[in-house]
Amino acid sequence: MSLSPEDEAAIRTRLLKIARQVAARAYAPYSGFRVGAAVQAGGQVFIGVNVENSSYGLSLCAERAALAAAVAAGAHPITHLALVGLDIPVGGRPEDCLPCGACRQWLAELAPEAIIYIEGREAGWRVKELLPLAFQLKDSRKT
Ligand code: THU
Repeated sequence: MSLSPEDEAAIRTRLLKIARQVAARAYAPYSGFRVGAAVQAGGQVFIGVNVENSSYGLSLCAERAALAAAVAAGAHPITHLALVGLDIPVGGRPEDCLPCGACRQWLAELAPEAIIYIEGREAGWRVKELLPLAFQLKDSRKT
């Protein structure tokens, strides 16, 4: 279902605002880079932040935290995800805070039709633009 440009703009504004607010609660003592995500699914909003660990490779990204919350609530379809990085390095640009490769794979599986909004860019990205030719096990894909 496609929404009017006005409705899309309202969702973008709302989700980016929530993502920015929750990013302040990120647990990022190692990288110092706090990220917040807000997912819209089935008309509800779910939040996530990055949660790091002293065993660095176990760190969880904000997007996957928010996607997992939506899945746990049984909310679907996942239609939008907004992402905000609070601690953009000097000289960096907010629009470069895009989902990492692992999160794109999660999006391809859990939210293939979702629109991804990031700060500093009006237009949303489609998941298929961010990860064309995603890996999938043909037999396991549910409709
Ligand atoms: N991070 C995210 O939360 N989402 C991304 O898509 C990129 C990276 C987090 C992981 C880590 O806690 C910090 O940003 C620095 O990489």
